[in-house]
Amino acid sequence: MVTRRPLIAGNWKMNFDHLRAVAFVQKIAWTLNDAKFPLTEVEVAVFPPFTDIRSVQTLIESDSLSFSFGAQDVSPFDSGAYTGDISGEFLKRLNCRYVIIGHSERRQGHHETDEQVTAKTKAALKHGLVPVICVGETSDDLEEFGASAVPVTQLRAVLSELSAESEFVVAYEPVWAIGSGQAATPAQAQHVCAALRTVIAEEISTESAEASRILYGGSVKSGNIASFMREKDVDGALVGGASLDAEEFAKIVQFPRHVIA
Ligand code: PGA
Repeated sequence: MVTRRPLIAGNWKMNFDHLRAVAFVQKIAWTLNDAKFPLTEVEVAVFPPFTDIRSVQTLIESDSLSFSFGAQDVSPFDSGAYTGDISGEFLKRLNCRYVIIGHSERRQGHHETDEQVTAKTKAALKHGLVPVICVGETSDDLEEFGASAVPVTQLRAVLSELSAESEFVVAYEPVWAIGSGQAATPAQAQHVCAALRTVIAEEISTESAEASRILYGGSVKSGNIASFMREKDVDGALVGGASLDAEEFAKIVQFPRHVIA
């Protein structure tokens, strides 16, 4: 059986300029260091705004911090007349490992479709980035179709276009749970994450389904992370609000200390 290394990812959204970003990453590093928590068991990734990435990269690399980092969006195109967009090639040059794609705030606020999410995912893979593909249902979807139907359809739309060798992460984020303080229950998260794993098996391969990490996101905090991580198909979390508080984020990262096997 494959062991999937848990991933705790901090999605900063449009918060922190590059100066605060540097101070913040240092604070998380010190907090984890003081707590003597080695980052071998858990992978930690931060997703700052584009303008912070160079500063975060420089800090992480010069201090040899064991953090990964990535961007919150990517253009489906390589270069050209696309005002305001950022190419995957540029992100790779900054040593980004990941890029978040199809976050509900982009699907809703920027009307991103499954086709665009697919094109961005392909662009990320082309440039050697690992896409964090976000899927999730709104409260209306939940009422009308149940929890897993919409996320399953969204994920299938992307994966049906990918090849077997692609490395990706899936983030299940019920839209109604994002920033609402009302997280899904661990059982709900498990139910949908298991359904998403089946989609990976059907669209890519059983090996990919075993190896790919599926995160839960939506009002994750230090007080509920352990309950999600006890679920067999939840391999980590995409954390928004709570990732902006260094102490709180460091507590979330240390979830293995609170998960009773
Ligand atoms: P939240 O956001 O943790 O503030 O609910 C999660 C996300 O949008 O990724």
